[in-house]
Amino acid sequence: MTKREQLYEGKAKKVFATDDPEFLIVSYKDDATAFNGLKKGTIIGKGVINNRMSNLLMQRLEKAGIPTHFIKELSDRETLVKKVSIVPLEVIVRNIAAGSFSKRYGVEEGFVFETPTIEFSYKNDELGDPLMDEYHAIAMKIATEEEIETIKKYAFGINEQLKAFWAECGVILVDFKLEFGRLMDGKIVLADEISPDTSRLWDSKTGEKLDKDRFRRDLGGVEDAYAEVMKRLTEHI
Ligand code: TMP
Ligand code: ASP
Repeated sequence: MTKREQLYEGKAKKVFATDDPEFLIVSYKDDATAFNGLKKGTIIGKGVINNRMSNLLMQRLEKAGIPTHFIKELSDRETLVKKVSIVPLEVIVRNIAAGSFSKRYGVEEGFVFETPTIEFSYKNDELGDPLMDEYHAIAMKIATEEEIETIKKYAFGINEQLKAFWAECGVILVDFKLEFGRLMDGKIVLADEISPDTSRLWDSKTGEKLDKDRFRRDLGGVEDAYAEVMKRLTEHI
């Protein structure tokens, strides 16, 4: 597969065309941002870790019956994926209160939910990715009712798979963000990435944060945390 022109550069990845209109190449960067791009930095080696981790987890999800955009890892930082049109919703699943949930509702971080929750944010940097009710998403033709049902089913299924896997690694899956896309035939598949950039991962024994919150909150030891979760993942996958 030949890499062609760059189509897009996001905060953490670049996307390239290939000689096949149905395939793209994603390239993971070490750039890190937080608070809608307000805070900028570098997490050395993050691109390599996120590429590998996301690919390993997506292959595992495929085996569990969840369709993804993943095709083939091409190198340390590059992966061949199916071209999708991204549904502009950030799909957030939570098992434990943290981050914006804790802030919005005044709930202490670490409060364990009765059942997992799901919420959607409208992917729009100018508006700061506002929360979006599913009825509003349908009303605005961002997704159909059927697509929303499919996305919810996949998202909760992914949560069960990932929660169980991370538990084997001695890691608590607190919450995570997913993005879905439509293939050319309209089929919904998991896209984007699953990594410590997009998940909250806490050490089961110590509660130590092993994810991008170390960068967001200036806790230090960011690279070590990414390396640690990657090590545990490769030992258990
Ligand atoms: P939040 O508590 O800040 O809403 O974040 C919930 C989860 O979503 C957390 O695991 C981090 C992830 N996330 C992203 O991947 N991208 C984002 O832009 C934001 C705000 C959160
Ligand atoms: N990456 C996101 C941004 O810069 C935010 C985050 O992950 O906290 O907007």
